[in-house]
Amino acid sequence: MNKIDELKQIIKNSKFYTEIKHSLHNHEFKRIRCLALGSPIESSNSRYQYALLLLLIELLNIKEISIYDPIFNEKDKELLRNFKIEETYPYPKDENTLFYMPHLPLKIMEQIINTEKPVYFIGNDIVSHTDRLSKQKLNELYPSMSILLHLLNDSTNNDGFTKVIKRRKQYKEPEINYDYNSVYFKDIEIKRYLNNFNKTDPWGTSFSDLAFHKLKI
Ligand SMILES: C[S@@+](CC[C@H](N)C(=O)[O-])C[C@H]1O[C@@H](n2cnc3c(N)ncnc32)[C@H](O)[C@@H]1O
Repeated sequence: MNKIDELKQIIKNSKFYTEIKHSLHNHEFKRIRCLALGSPIESSNSRYQYALLLLLIELLNIKEISIYDPIFNEKDKELLRNFKIEETYPYPKDENTLFYMPHLPLKIMEQIINTEKPVYFIGNDIVSHTDRLSKQKLNELYPSMSILLHLLNDSTNNDGFTKVIKRRKQYKEPEINYDYNSVYFKDIEIKRYLNNFNKTDPWGTSFSDLAFHKLKI
């Protein structure tokens, strides 16, 4: 068994993977768009994330994989030669693509939301990803992420997804005018993976904070 197959087996045997399968149950995708994988050749976390990408491809019977990270070196590109390595995303913005973006920086996530318009994505839980910024600052810097967070906090729909309870603050925050006309989505649901990070996990922090997000368009 080669190294990547070993990592796939470790993930496959985990509760985390059972949760992933459960979250994707009843969903059909034609392609995966993978962003911010890092270098699987250089980084152990990226190797585990790559192993999960391979499992997702098998699980969902995906034939088209579009991938990009500016950090890829020649050996990474050789490893990923069966995928389309493409910086821009030439596909229709629809529900057929599962975005997989493990630990994509917030600034880039804002750009991806605005340009590639994902409907489904496995990526950093948008609540914890944005919690170092006040709502006002978030709205100034990353307006689309700010609307996503606002919709999530206000969401009343809960068809199997986790509903986030609004945190009450002691002080009154300034009123924010959310520009809903600037975004393509109307609502969001999130399914958190509870078994993706534990100090004893062989994959370390590779999957920390990841969650499945569904944007309603
Ligand atoms: C925090 S690192 C995460 C790397 C890896 N996924 C991990 O968890 O260790 C963020 C990654 O995003 C990549 N990145 C930066 N801009 C990007 C872009 N426009 N599209 C895709 N990936 C990008 C960086 O090169 C880097 O590898």
